[in-house]
Amino acid sequence: MSSSGRLVIVSNRVGDPRKAAAGGLAVALGDALAKSGGLWFGWSGKVSEDRASGEVHRSRSGPVELVTMDLSQADHDTYYAGYSNQALWPALHYRLDLADFAAGFFSGYQRVNRLFAHKLAAMLRPDDVIWVHDYHLIPLADELRALGCRQRIGFFLHIPLPPPPILAAIPGHKWLMRSFFAYDLVGLQTRSDADHFARFVQEEAGATALGDGGFEALGRRVIARPFPIGIDVAEFQRLAGSNDSRQTEAMLKKQYGHRQLLVGIDRLDYSKGLPHRFRAFRELLANYPENLNSATLIQIASPTRESVSAYEELRRELEGLAGEINGAHGELDWMPIRYLHRTWARRRLPALYRCARVALVTPLRDGMNLVGKEYVAMQDEADPGVLVLSRFAGAAEQMRQALLVNPYDIPATAQAIQRALRMPLAERQERHAALLAHIREHDVHEWSRTFLDTLSAVEMRTHQAA
Ligand code: G6P
Repeated sequence: MSSSGRLVIVSNRVGDPRKAAAGGLAVALGDALAKSGGLWFGWSGKVSEDRASGEVHRSRSGPVELVTMDLSQADHDTYYAGYSNQALWPALHYRLDLADFAAGFFSGYQRVNRLFAHKLAAMLRPDDVIWVHDYHLIPLADELRALGCRQRIGFFLHIPLPPPPILAAIPGHKWLMRSFFAYDLVGLQTRSDADHFARFVQEEAGATALGDGGFEALGRRVIARPFPIGIDVAEFQRLAGSNDSRQTEAMLKKQYGHRQLLVGIDRLDYSKGLPHRFRAFRELLANYPENLNSATLIQIASPTRESVSAYEELRRELEGLAGEINGAHGELDWMPIRYLHRTWARRRLPALYRCARVALVTPLRDGMNLVGKEYVAMQDEADPGVLVLSRFAGAAEQMRQALLVNPYDIPATAQAIQRALRMPLAERQERHAALLAHIREHDVHEWSRTFLDTLSAVEMRTHQAA
């Protein structure tokens, strides 16, 4: 990136990098922002009818300026809960059956992107570098370009990009594709996502491949490449040293020391495959009775997008399953599943990871999934636990030494969990060492650095030349 350019991050949710609960992504983006001095723009997370005034809220987090806007109820329901989370989220997670492409959702999505673009354009400087995040904001660059913004603009899609036949089912998919071409650089999580992009733009937009992820179509050029996101290993290790984490670890050891602990940590989202996971765990107890009175699954499922009915249905299904499994197999002094439907403080996660013999990361589809990486980072290298990972998580492209499973195949998943619980120490150490080396090398800082470096190189090849 040029040394004078300020970095501007745009995302639906704005994290405060100074807050402990911010998470690795906010920390990494905060670091990148701090280096150049920068601005982070997005939704405040609040719904307010005063939004009509178009007021933005400004605050500072060290060298970073945080600028947010409230959404009106109608914008929240159409742009956020509607098109983003009932059309794009399910469709891009291969769940066309759950997608609702209501026209009102689409117009709300366009309206809020236009509104964000207007607010942001007024704050931009000519040498700013703009980095837009995730599916809520795909058309933002096109809106900014329409307002005359010539800055370099990159986009990162945190969720999967499905193959062309699924993308082609999205009404207005050509418009969506056009929107990608307003960016200089589009980052995707995996090699297969990037392949899907390449095939789609060539088949549906008649794009010409220029090599190295470059495409030309509609009189514009874009580069689309995989940039798999990682975690901040050091940040996690710091959290593990906190009082909170140490106390939680002591409590867990006391409660579960003589049992085999398994852990799952997810948002309560249908993409996470939680009912499949519970069924696989039920099958484990039924097929391998030595786990009775011993194997205990702690599943944290944080509430999310509760105004969307698919999430409400999932909650009921999962509560039913947990109750059924505990009712059938539990004892007075042992419950197979500890199901917690609430948000868990991030600072307490390291303790859970360290005490768990096995982590279950078994989404039906996931852009990357960082839980598996966090779990690996937190293991005792001398006596590490085992990661059971869905082959449909983006992380599976990199984490080949995990036990990879097809979460739809419930007996095979149960078998893999059994294997994980019984894995000899030498094999656990060998797998863990390889995984740890990988996540250390490819951490979230490397991710943001390579993306921003590529964006500055792209500028010379395409944007300036345009
Ligand atoms: C996924 C998305 C993020 C989103 C997060 C939480 O990880 O990629 O963009 O912020 O889910 O969802 P929420 O709807 O609460 O923002």
